[in-house]
Amino acid sequence: MNAPPAAIASPDAGPLSIHAQGLTRIYTVGSVQVTGIDGIDLAVGPGQLVVLKGDSGSGKSTLLSLLAGLDRLSSGRLTVAGRDLNHCREAELTDFRRKSVGMIFQAFNLLPTLTVLENVCLPALLAGRAFREVRSRAEELLDWLGMGDRLDHQPRQLSGGEMQRCAIARALINDPAIVLADEPTGNLDSGNARKVMALLSDLNRQFDRTVVIATHSDLADGYATMVLRLQDGRVAP
Ligand SMILES: Nc1ncnc2c1ncn2[C@@H]1O[C@H](COP(=O)(O)OP(=O)(O)O)[C@@H](O)[C@H]1O
Ligand SMILES: [Mg+2]
Repeated sequence: MNAPPAAIASPDAGPLSIHAQGLTRIYTVGSVQVTGIDGIDLAVGPGQLVVLKGDSGSGKSTLLSLLAGLDRLSSGRLTVAGRDLNHCREAELTDFRRKSVGMIFQAFNLLPTLTVLENVCLPALLAGRAFREVRSRAEELLDWLGMGDRLDHQPRQLSGGEMQRCAIARALINDPAIVLADEPTGNLDSGNARKVMALLSDLNRQFDRTVVIATHSDLADGYATMVLRLQDGRVAP
């Protein structure tokens, strides 16, 4: 592996990366109320690697969406990277999503008509950063991830493992203190799954990022500093 870029060496997570109290998300679908998560308490310090486990439907994705500021809580309290997510305005939430957290998904979620380099640069350009600086940081990250020779390729020309490494570079482009991953190895063969998990562990151990991974896989267990098992939207006893 190439030398790590300085771009990911100085997180500022505040005293606690994640602090949730009674965190609840109830979905209303027509006249039916569905519990996503129900009363979760969570305190995660900087530099922890949290593994979220639990059956399908137990609330893992709901919790990650709230932590990422992609969704709003129904009740409780939630502070992530120093930002009070119950009380912030839409514009603050957008800023939070762009700068404070990096998100990685099972289905990679790359934009198919953009190149690898463009996919990685996009969140930084949306955050208003200068193209020249963004491009050089994106190249540095992609080089670190072994993707330096794929800059001009489109996602359809990549393997699953390569797409996920591109998505990891995109998640890191704005230098977030917290990286959230929702089943990041769910679409990968075991070799690539191991590689992606090792990269997430490197981010955690070498660069002190707080990392939260929802996964069914046992691959993350050896890296975890905390395992949280969810059951029907609650922390399992
Ligand atoms: N957008 C939504 N609308 C209604 N119900 C939802 C929505 N998203 C998730 N749920 C429900 O919330 C519960 C938790 O789902 P989810 O967080 O996706 O679990 P997991 O990621 O552990 O599989 C499930 O009962 C699911 O059906
Ligand atoms: Mg899920």
